[in-house]
Order: sequence, then structure tokens, then C-alpha cells
Amino acid sequence: MNIAVKVETAEDIAAMPLEKLNPARVDRFANDTIWPVFERLRREDPVHFTPESEYGPYWSVTRWNDIMAVDTNHEAFSSAEGIGLANLEDQRKGEEALRALGQEPRRRGGAGFITMDEPEHSVGRKAVSPTVAPANIQTMMPVVRERAGQILDSLPIGKEFDWVDLVSKELTAMTLASLFDFPFENRRKLTWWSDMVMNQPGHGPVESWEQKGMAIFECFGTFEQMWNERLNGPPSNDLISMMAHNPATRDMSRETYHGNVILLIVGGNDTTRNTISGSVVQLNKNPDQYAKLRANPDLILPMVSETIRYQTPLAHMARVATRDVELGGKTIKTGDRVVMWYISGNRDETMIENPNSYVIDRARPRQHLSFGFGIHRCVGNRVAEMQLTIIWEEILKRFPEIKVVGEPTRNWSSFVHGFETLPVVIPYRA
Ligand code: HEM
Repeated sequence: MNIAVKVETAEDIAAMPLEKLNPARVDRFANDTIWPVFERLRREDPVHFTPESEYGPYWSVTRWNDIMAVDTNHEAFSSAEGIGLANLEDQRKGEEALRALGQEPRRRGGAGFITMDEPEHSVGRKAVSPTVAPANIQTMMPVVRERAGQILDSLPIGKEFDWVDLVSKELTAMTLASLFDFPFENRRKLTWWSDMVMNQPGHGPVESWEQKGMAIFECFGTFEQMWNERLNGPPSNDLISMMAHNPATRDMSRETYHGNVILLIVGGNDTTRNTISGSVVQLNKNPDQYAKLRANPDLILPMVSETIRYQTPLAHMARVATRDVELGGKTIKTGDRVVMWYISGNRDETMIENPNSYVIDRARPRQHLSFGFGIHRCVGNRVAEMQLTIIWEEILKRFPEIKVVGEPTRNWSSFVHGFETLPVVIPYRA
């Protein structure tokens, strides 16, 4: 995608009046020019207020310790008003499109238990946790490994292809289909719905608000049918059956169920997908690290964690203050929206040594903010690490090199931080 916006330099950012800094501006994410903004904020104004923007007014929290303070204080910082910054104009158009289809738009939060506070949040989280807990992950591993192998064996050799489409999307779709016990042949529907939910017209596969509304409508229809089948069938360990048979969740409202479906589809898709793509991008940019990995496959696990830190697949999570809170010398007022920029905290030089370098054998590779902290900490983190580890174990057995042969295109989003496309060539098999 060509973005017709003048690309700013670090000097341009340094010269801007602080109050004009709107770190959520999307073109900087799509152009990969966000870094000087966060560097300046961490240094000069770590708890920063943007009074006017396409998202309305909001606070940006950019240092590690302040992010932790917000994320672990769920009483003062509520998730119920939504966890991503919403472009107000896009939100209005999306709601109109849903109304035109006879669907009442979801309330501002409405994305399942991630947009709930206690005690409701824990009810939803507990219902799905067993599906993504270590015991179930162990059971899934051979299937994921077999499917990962099939994906890799079907890739063209010596010919350019899009890694995002043929590997990153495919692997996550396969895993998610297993978690939902979703018809395997329709697995790419899960990718499609996730992309339709997360993009606005003109980006990703979304052409119009109507088409986006229709896709969401279709998704809910399919998952309604699955709910009824699972409810009437014997209990099983897939995500839908878990919710349908759990006494705490089986009577949840349709709105809550639909929200949970969207949460699980999106949570399981973009994040892992963009880490898989991110690992290929970073290993190409850092050939010394790629060589280390090839020489020592025991480094796969720390490399996966380092990629999750470096990529930060979800750039931020947002909250709304339920009371006045002092943070970094500023007063956040009741009702103010607060954005935790994980992507900035992960580059906080006071917490991570050499944070802008991609180093796959760090002493503490799991030291990152990408999964969040506190009660909403990513419930799928072990599933993500499992998929990433397996795909790299299988890659190293087959391909000595995956070569990035052109510029990747990036998502048009300040929430999902990743890649639309990534052109690569696999020169030969091992
Ligand atoms: C590298 C991959 C992933 C990253 C970086 C990631 C990131 C996150 C983050 C930042 C949060 C919110 C944390 C907070 O607010 O403190 C979250 C929550 C969540 N994630 Fe993930 N995620 C990943 C993979 C997955 C996968 C594979 C699934 C599903 C199988 C998943 C399902 C969820 C769910 C359901 C929540 C809500 C938890 C709650 O509210 O209690 N995620 N994730």
C-alpha cells in the first residue's frame, strides 16, 4: 500500500509542540515511523495527554513501570468502555452499516470478557481457560505439528510468494479451527472474519461498511449454529462447547456470546500471525541472529519471545479511569481514556538492555509487555508460543533460509501491529 502522507523524520518529531503529538496516528504505524514519537514521549512526557484527535482526547502511557501500574490496577482502570482506541468517525459509520442490516451495534466495549470488569470478566475467562491450558495444548501439539509440516511442504521453492498468506494466516487458521472444532475446510473463514472485523474500508480485505457488516452478520450466524449443535451434543473441550456446557456461561446473552466469539477469533489470529511474519522479517534484518538460530535450534524458544517483544503484535490496550489517579506527576481524571503503549514499554531503555536491538539469546527473553499483565493478561499466550515454536522447529528441518525479497506492507492500524504482505523466496530445501 502506498501511503500519500509525508514521512516525518526524527527531527520533525522533535520539533513538534508536545501537545500536538498524537501517537495513535495510523500512518506512522503503516510507514514504520512511530519510533521517534515514543522515544520522545518516554524521555520528555511519559504520561502524555493528547487533547484533540480522531479518537477524541486520550492519555498515552509509554514507560514500562507506568504501563504496569495501569495494567495491574483494574479497579481504577476499567476495560468496559473498550480496549482499543476507536476512530470516532469510523465507529459511527460501522454502527450505521450494522443498523442498516437490522443489527443493533454492540455497545462501546462489547468484545467479550476482555471488555468486562470483575466479577463478569472472570466468569468468561474461566469458561474458556481449560481449552488453552497446558494439558489441552499438549494434546493439540501433534496435530499442529503435522499441519505445520503440510503447510511448509506445499510451499514453492525458488519462486516468490507471500509468506503472510501461505504460512502465517494458514497456520493460525488451522490452530484456531482446532480450538473451535470448526469445519477444517472452512478454516480461512476465520481469517476472513478476523480481517473484516479489524480493518476499515480501503484496508485489508474490507471494501465497504456494508460488506464489513455482512461479514460480521455471517460470522454470528455460523457461530449461533455451532452453539446450538454443541449445546445439544456431549460436552467436549473445544472453546464453544466449554462455554455452552459451563453453568456459569451457558445462559449468557447473545451479545456477550458474540463478543466472546469475536474476541477469540481476533485474539487467536492477528497476534500470532504477525509474530510469525515478524520473525522472518527480523531474522532477515539481523543475519547474525539468523545464523545463531540455524546453528542452535535450542534458541527457538527465546527467539519466539524476543520476536513477541520486538514486534509487539498488539501495540496498545486502552482503559477508562474510574476515579482520579496520579500517574507520573499528572492527574488522570475519572472518565479519561488511558492508552498503555506496550510497543513503547517494550523499548524502555531503563528496563531492557539495548531495547532497539533484536537479540535472540537474551538472558530473560520473557521479560516483555506484549501479553499484558494483571487480570486480562493474554489467556492464549501458551497457544501462541506453542504454534510459533513448532513452526520454527519444522522450518529449520526443511529450509536453511527464507529470504525476504521486497518491502513488507504493514497494517493500517495503531492497534494491530503487523504485516499485510511479506514477499519471500525459499531458495532451496535442506
Ligand atoms: C503473540 C500472540 C499474542 C499476543 C501478543 C497477545 C496479546 C494479548 C494482550 C496484550 C492481551 C490483553 C492483556 C491486558 O489487557 O493486560 C490479550 C488478551 C487476550 N488474548 Fe491474547 N495475544 C496473543 C495470542 C492469543 C491467542 C493465540 C489467543 C487465543 C487462542 C488469545 C486470546 C486472548 C484472550 C481471550 C484475551 C482476553 C483475556 C482476558 O481479558 O482475560 N491471544 N492478548
